[in-house]
Amino acid sequence: MEKSEIKSRIDYLRKVCNDANYEYYVLDNPTLTDQEFDKFLRELEILEEENPEFDSSSSPTKKVGGEVIDKFKKVRHKIPMLSLPDVFSLEEIESFNTRIIKDEVKPIYVCEYKIDGLSVSLHYEKGELVYAATRGDGIVGEDITHNVRTIRSVPLILKQPIDIEVRGEIYMPKNVLKEINIKREKDNLPILQNVRNAAAGSIRQLDSKVAAERKLDTWIYHLPNPEDYGIKSHQEALQFMNDLGFKVNREVNSIVKGIEEIEKFIEIASQKRDSLAYEIDGIVIKVNDLVSQKKLGFTSKYPKWAVAYKFPAKEVLTKLKDIIFTVGRTGRITPNAVLDPVILMGSTVKRATLHNEDYVLMKDLKIGDVVSIRKAGDVIPEVIEAKIARRSGIEKDFQMINNCPICGSILEKKKDQVDYYCLNELCPARKVEALIHYCSRKAMNIEGLGEEIIEDFYNLGFIKTILDIYRLKDHRKDLIELEGFGNKSVDNLLQAIEESKKNSLERLLFGLGISGIGDKTALLLAKIFKSLDKMREATYEQYNNIKDIGPTLAKNLVDFFQDEINRELISSLKKLGINIKYLGEDDKFNEFFTGKCFVLTGTLSFMDRDNLVSIIESYGGSSSSSVSRKTDVVIVGDKPGSKYNKALDLGIEIWNEEKIKSIVNNL
Ligand code: IVH
Repeated sequence: MEKSEIKSRIDYLRKVCNDANYEYYVLDNPTLTDQEFDKFLRELEILEEENPEFDSSSSPTKKVGGEVIDKFKKVRHKIPMLSLPDVFSLEEIESFNTRIIKDEVKPIYVCEYKIDGLSVSLHYEKGELVYAATRGDGIVGEDITHNVRTIRSVPLILKQPIDIEVRGEIYMPKNVLKEINIKREKDNLPILQNVRNAAAGSIRQLDSKVAAERKLDTWIYHLPNPEDYGIKSHQEALQFMNDLGFKVNREVNSIVKGIEEIEKFIEIASQKRDSLAYEIDGIVIKVNDLVSQKKLGFTSKYPKWAVAYKFPAKEVLTKLKDIIFTVGRTGRITPNAVLDPVILMGSTVKRATLHNEDYVLMKDLKIGDVVSIRKAGDVIPEVIEAKIARRSGIEKDFQMINNCPICGSILEKKKDQVDYYCLNELCPARKVEALIHYCSRKAMNIEGLGEEIIEDFYNLGFIKTILDIYRLKDHRKDLIELEGFGNKSVDNLLQAIEESKKNSLERLLFGLGISGIGDKTALLLAKIFKSLDKMREATYEQYNNIKDIGPTLAKNLVDFFQDEINRELISSLKKLGINIKYLGEDDKFNEFFTGKCFVLTGTLSFMDRDNLVSIIESYGGSSSSSVSRKTDVVIVGDKPGSKYNKALDLGIEIWNEEKIKSIVNNL
């Protein structure tokens, strides 16, 4: 075949397969059989392999995945990706509606399902998908193009060759989560808690093959730039995006007028919720007319023309079979509810934390009680209350323990605190928890060394201290013999341990579990000191002089680094080849921000205050809540407070919204 013929055949096959994907995954109306589709796709794959000069990122062959990235690039959103204010009751919806009417806007809305997933921004140039990004903090997201390309309902080519950005939700269908969890249970892996985490975890895969297997889907619901296309209402925008080939929820975007119709919509949505193929956690109410949307505008965080109504959290009843105690890394004792297993929002709940003695007493929980549980933030199970009326009289009172359940030491309670502690430094439970913390995701992130495995390895004597983790390779043979392990999984684990040696300092610092040093403080310290050696020699004053580090943390740090055992640990870690240097990027330089101290007052409409502070900080500036002679610049928004007058009194430089906006836009 001539090259030009090959190219036309490739073009033809791409069109057939892209159209077939659209018909199958967007219209839910397949026109090809699976066998026909596979035949076309296979032919295309072969032609592309043999003729790499015709490679295209818009080819339907990209949907099976294959691209692997080494890290997620940051993407600055051209228009901030705002979220919506949550409301939880009809009264709150009524106040929203009243405010709309007061602002002389007609209460004509589009109601949609609030899809439980993660938001995405899709960018097309001349009708071709060029990149996709997560919301991130609303200002800067992450480039997830390689994974988004694999989502079947995301068109790689639009029906018109235009430049456009659209936004919507990536979600995991309910049955996909079920299938994955059945398989994970068989493989002895922890189950994925809910569709949102599962979708977010899938989209954060470096290898797009993994994301492709997760069968993610999309609903597109927002056009950030409707004026560019002469569009006058949200409903028109939805129709426009639908006609371009996006998957738009046609079932639920009719016009809804006034509060009564909204209530009706909620009622029907609540009834339909369980029978839908995807999870929804509420409904979204948006003013339809775009001129009215513009008139209503934005607060610093949210649009004023829309709200998200969240369904009440689901509750179930079960039996509190027992209360058991666990010992944390710091020796803190936590009572935990052992529950008769129940399914709550798609996952089985067997345990729930009861926090501390006071919490159990306040809720008057007795062993044997029927209790109601729900998922706080839809993830962590929580015991709400005991059903006192259902007591039979044989329930047992809760009794706080006096001795550590693991080592038997007498527990102690600090003055004015609610928690009991096991103070035995050698308590195995504390050691195991410290090891778990060291290997955890935000610390050294050693995949394969999860809680249960660490506990097993501790009990088997393979890992007693952090250093033993790096000596596990000497036990390779013994590990392979263990149940559930084999050559491959042991090699993967040893590989992950070796890889983790290259982590940047902040992970190690956080992993060491110094009292009061969370992941954020660890990062701050790593950026300032650059190496653990420097931190080992730093003085109390040096620590105390750092903004965000108070006297207590400064003392904890100095105590930690002066302790002979810790000094030895650091030397041994170095000898074992663990990196102790900061490897991240340094703060960028910017003439407006670097080294300056800012105070913000009043409301900014172009950006949320927290985001602005993080931009300033990323350029090495700082922010403070009060104006003093140390302040370099006061940024003044709408309705400023007394800080504005103080800045004038002290003759401090003042920037208005326009000025800061233009600086940020030009970064
Ligand atoms: S509209 C400026 N519509 O809910 C308007 N959001 O709390 C942007 N979501 O961040 C959002 N379903 O991730 C919109 N039909 C829907 C939605 C929806 C789910 C998510 C989205 C957003 C959050 C808002």
